[in-house]
Amino acid sequence: PNGLLADTRGRRLHDLRISVTDRCNFRCTYCMPKEVFDKDYPYLSHGDLLSFEEIVRLAKIYIEHGVEKIRLTGGEPLLRKHVEKLIEMLASLKTLSGQPLDLTLTTNGSLLRKKAQALKDAGLTRMTISLDGLDDATFQQMNDVGFPVGDVLDGIEAAREVGFKNIKVNMVVKKGTNDHEIIPMAKYFKGSDVILRFIEFMDVGASNGWNMTEVLPSAAVIAKIHETFPLTNIDPNYPGEVAERWRYVDGSGEVGVISSVTQAFCKDCSRARLSTEGKMYLCLFATEGHDLKALLRAGKSDLEISNAIAQVWSHRTDRYSELRGSPEMEGKRKVEMSYIGG
Ligand code: GTP
Ligand code: 5AD
Ligand code: SF4
Ligand code: SF4
Repeated sequence: PNGLLADTRGRRLHDLRISVTDRCNFRCTYCMPKEVFDKDYPYLSHGDLLSFEEIVRLAKIYIEHGVEKIRLTGGEPLLRKHVEKLIEMLASLKTLSGQPLDLTLTTNGSLLRKKAQALKDAGLTRMTISLDGLDDATFQQMNDVGFPVGDVLDGIEAAREVGFKNIKVNMVVKKGTNDHEIIPMAKYFKGSDVILRFIEFMDVGASNGWNMTEVLPSAAVIAKIHETFPLTNIDPNYPGEVAERWRYVDGSGEVGVISSVTQAFCKDCSRARLSTEGKMYLCLFATEGHDLKALLRAGKSDLEISNAIAQVWSHRTDRYSELRGSPEMEGKRKVEMSYIGG
């Protein structure tokens, strides 16, 4: 019944990012600084979260609108109780063309040694792990809870042992804090099937103290690696891919850069977000969401919810990275990343 959706800029709805918890056991300074996310922080209570049944019901409706990729995020998604049960439920869904979903998650890796096998068994197809340095002191400075880097490296190993392929590793680069780890990280993953991606420090949320002076432009990251390990630019896997891809000239794999600050990629942005408490967000930097949980809990039919989603997407105008710093954006309070999942 549904034709494929396009927003006001002709962009399709292709990816759905679902935040399954607003909690995390790390306090990365760029995401959940501990001065703000302290013991008094008003996290959502269990009844406010979407249940697995509600998530799956919405996922099916999004799939009817053309979604082919679902990514679970957080906070830290592996902290959500029985998350493998949710994965199992989502893994049985098929896209409009009858293919299995691309079903993946973004994790900090701290619980992977324990959970990798269950995630594989549940039918997760891929995974991305955040890792901001190899040097223990630097890594602990980034996660700000004293979590040892060795345990995340071991988690990555666990994921490979149970059969995950082409794992992606995300490194957020903060100039002056962890940029000295760029070459060691490149060296460590070069020649493995892990794809390392460098992310520009972004001005998400309202509490991470973002400052342009701490952004290292991706062009500088690539130039730096290129000096030691020559790189050549390669084509995206699909239009609107977040990362720009670079291949090592010597054939030992690829790296990526995600440059929301210096090279906006809003033109083809095909991502919608479902917050922990069931609001639909259209942009990582949005100030407001659309309450789908209210519709679910008011007993609306699938068709009514489907129409509501279609309405919201077809009116979408978002292109924050292109407008960053312009007067249009001034004074608006953006939602926290741990709540909409990046
Ligand atoms: P792939 O499916 O592997 O391409 O994953 P991905 O890059 O879409 O997802 P991931 O969770 O690994 O995100 C990598 C980084 O890109 C994170 O810092 C995200 O916050 C950021 N990111 C993802 N989507 C968007 C987006 O639409 N806009 C902006 N500005 N950043 C995004
Ligand atoms: N800037 C850039 N990336 C960020 N992430 C979280 N906060 C920020 C930020 N302020 C990254 C995490 C994770 C991904 C989902 O988003 O490190 O890899
Ligand atoms: Fe937690 Fe990930 Fe945010 Fe770090 S970036 S605080 S690991 S949700
Ligand atoms: Fe999409 Fe917003 Fe990111 Fe632009 S800034 S790519 S519109 S999520």
